[in-house]
Amino acid sequence: MNRRRVGIVTGANRGIGYELARQLAATGVTVVTAARDAAAATATAEQLQGEGLDVHPVHLDITDQASIDTAIVAVIACFGRIDVLVNNAGIAIDARVPAATPDLATAHRTVDTNLFGTWRCCTAVIPHMTAAGYGRIVNLTSHMSLSAQLRAGSPSYRISKAAINTLTRILADELAGTGILINAASPGQVQTRIGPKAASRTPAEAAKGLLWLTDLPADGPTGRLFYEHDELTW
Ligand SMILES: NC(=O)c1ccc[n+]([C@@H]2O[C@H](COP(=O)([O-])OP(=O)(O)OC[C@H]3O[C@@H](n4cnc5c(N)ncnc54)[C@H](OP(=O)(O)O)[C@@H]3O)[C@@H](O)[C@H]2O)c1
Repeated sequence: MNRRRVGIVTGANRGIGYELARQLAATGVTVVTAARDAAAATATAEQLQGEGLDVHPVHLDITDQASIDTAIVAVIACFGRIDVLVNNAGIAIDARVPAATPDLATAHRTVDTNLFGTWRCCTAVIPHMTAAGYGRIVNLTSHMSLSAQLRAGSPSYRISKAAINTLTRILADELAGTGILINAASPGQVQTRIGPKAASRTPAEAAKGLLWLTDLPADGPTGRLFYEHDELTW
């Protein structure tokens, strides 16, 4: 078994996920850079290895259960443990779609990726974390999903992230006492492909604000929602 903690970051090939992978590895965690494009996963890992970091690629499409199962089997075979999961991968493809006249195929794809993708990855690692009596899971959500900020625009994105919030709370309750702590976190508005044009935060700043949730003490929070270290109201 790997002596260091092992963490998986989904969608690690670019944006916030890439910076999270880099910063998590810099803390001494063995990081698995998961991406739906196998070549991108490898290129990402090689780039970070070039910085002296202990990073390894895996192909993982969060919409494909077989791909997730294969990836988790490979990580366990290689390292014998999964301590951290950051459910970072996500899509936002319905910014200008009205909820009253939706393209339900787009909505379905968004919810399948953001909600069910996150859910699939959680359920894939939970048995390993439960057996080890330790796990830290971080689910990326958005301020756009908060009750006080629900309004027109990006309906399926908002719905998918609000559902991630709900999933986080339910799983935290179910997993109480197992050693697994699971929280949701918003990165704020970040300069990435998904992020708004006016986004002020860099991916590195956003990743720094999320990192602490991957290394919570045993009595740390679970089933909560954060922006940086500030707790948000769902
Ligand atoms: N940027 C913001 O302002 C902001 C605000 C709130 C929340 N967030 C959340 O932060 C997270 C990261 O987003 P980002 O801003 O870094 O955007 P990004 O640069 O667009 O990155 C999204 C990542 O998700 C991956 N991905 C999408 N579908 C996938 C799938 N089916 N399987 C595996 N990976 C998949 C992408 O892979 P490909 O390269 O293959 O497409 C990419 O690596 C998302 O959950 C997003 O909702 C971002």
